[in-house]
Amino acid sequence: MVASAQGGGEHWSSRTAFVLAAIGAAVGLGNIWRFPTLAGENGGGAFVLVYVLCVALIGMPMVLTEILLGRTGGGRADAVGSVAEVAERSGRSRRWSIFAGVEVLAAFLILSFYSVVAGWVLYYVWISGFDFLGALFSGSPFAPAFEHLTQDQVTGLMGALFGNPGQLLLQHAIFMAVTLAIVASGVHGGIERAAKWLMPAFFVLLVMLTVYGAFTGEFGHAVSFLFTPDFSKLSPVAINEALGQAFFSLSLGSAALVTYGSYVPGDVRLAPTAGMIATVDTGVAMLAGLMIFPIVFSAGLDPAAGPSLIFQSLPVAFQSMSAGALIGLAFFVLIFFAALTSSISLLEGPTAWAMARFGLGRKVTALLVACGAFLIGGACALGYNVWSDVRPLSFWPIFANADILDSIDGVTGKLMLPLAGFGLALFTGWRADRRLIEVESGLSPAMFLLWRSLVAWLAPVAVGLILLFGLFPSLLA
Ligand code: PHE
Repeated sequence: MVASAQGGGEHWSSRTAFVLAAIGAAVGLGNIWRFPTLAGENGGGAFVLVYVLCVALIGMPMVLTEILLGRTGGGRADAVGSVAEVAERSGRSRRWSIFAGVEVLAAFLILSFYSVVAGWVLYYVWISGFDFLGALFSGSPFAPAFEHLTQDQVTGLMGALFGNPGQLLLQHAIFMAVTLAIVASGVHGGIERAAKWLMPAFFVLLVMLTVYGAFTGEFGHAVSFLFTPDFSKLSPVAINEALGQAFFSLSLGSAALVTYGSYVPGDVRLAPTAGMIATVDTGVAMLAGLMIFPIVFSAGLDPAAGPSLIFQSLPVAFQSMSAGALIGLAFFVLIFFAALTSSISLLEGPTAWAMARFGLGRKVTALLVACGAFLIGGACALGYNVWSDVRPLSFWPIFANADILDSIDGVTGKLMLPLAGFGLALFTGWRADRRLIEVESGLSPAMFLLWRSLVAWLAPVAVGLILLFGLFPSLLA
């Protein structure tokens, strides 16, 4: 690929390639691990309703904003360069790009712990893979999972993994290396190709497992849990959490969409694509809920089990289900695929930035970024065993009890993503040249007005509130 004078000069080969890559970035652990966890902890329906409102009114307009900033940047392949370019063409200070800089840093930090959690998924892929092979070779491919283990031993798998630093680091290293190999192969040969294979496979598995859950589990119970709002459960903290989750799940505030947007050819209409990304991402979160909760309820498990829901509760459920070994394997492979297309986008943003900033080639740059993220993630992994007493942000009340991983998750999710989104919404709503973005958006005049009002008014106000209450929850008391 020939590098243009301005940036990497790489492009998606088609609109479909872009859509798959962007949906791949959005759909990930956020949908399948974080969304059901939060919905479970916050009482289901009311949380889901607020989440959907946040996606529709703030998330979707911001997805368009970020992709649009990337493409309007005129082929600068990185988020910071793109925003600086739009600012300059609008006759504004290039310093607005500092918010894109926050996005790049956030992506780097998220990548570090995302790879650790994805490493847990990978570990469960291995063990359920061996479990299924065992069932297969003993002539019963449709056996329940972990037939030779007691229920305590199955729940104990997670604790054993967390207590084993070598194993955690190994899984983290393997996952990071796979991500690196794909990003190092470029936009075409790597990111696009991975998305074209992994996303369709992901959707097939998702539909199969949801249908299975619908027929074998307590589907009605799950539906009423997810979709019957009980407004007494709707605390301000839950609202705050829902908005933050919308950002995380849509990959907002973290350079991914601006960077992917910069590779979009000029003839692709952005608004329908943005709508599709937000719709599919939300649909997948709902399907993930409809896949997980029927199983949880039929096994009599607690929907509010928290982060251990998929690593502890579900394996127990698979243990008492016919074909549980196969279903368990399919389930963890599904999450692995989703996590991989997201981690690719998390590595791509910082890599594109560092390539433009330091003028090094893609492979070397991606390697350096991945090594840096591996080291920070390594500290997160050690935070579960050798450094389990470490509380890096103990001086900050809301993070006082957070271990290393939760601290980085908290600072990125509660502070950096909203801050970057807030800044870019203000910039796009008030400072960017109106004609420039109107043309680029491809929206009708009425829709443009609606979108711009949401970005100029609603997004900064709502996101400003998350920042405020996220950082100073005592204000809500
Ligand atoms: N959206 C991804 C998920 O839901 C995570 C992610 C965040 C990816 C930020 C890219 C950028 O898992």
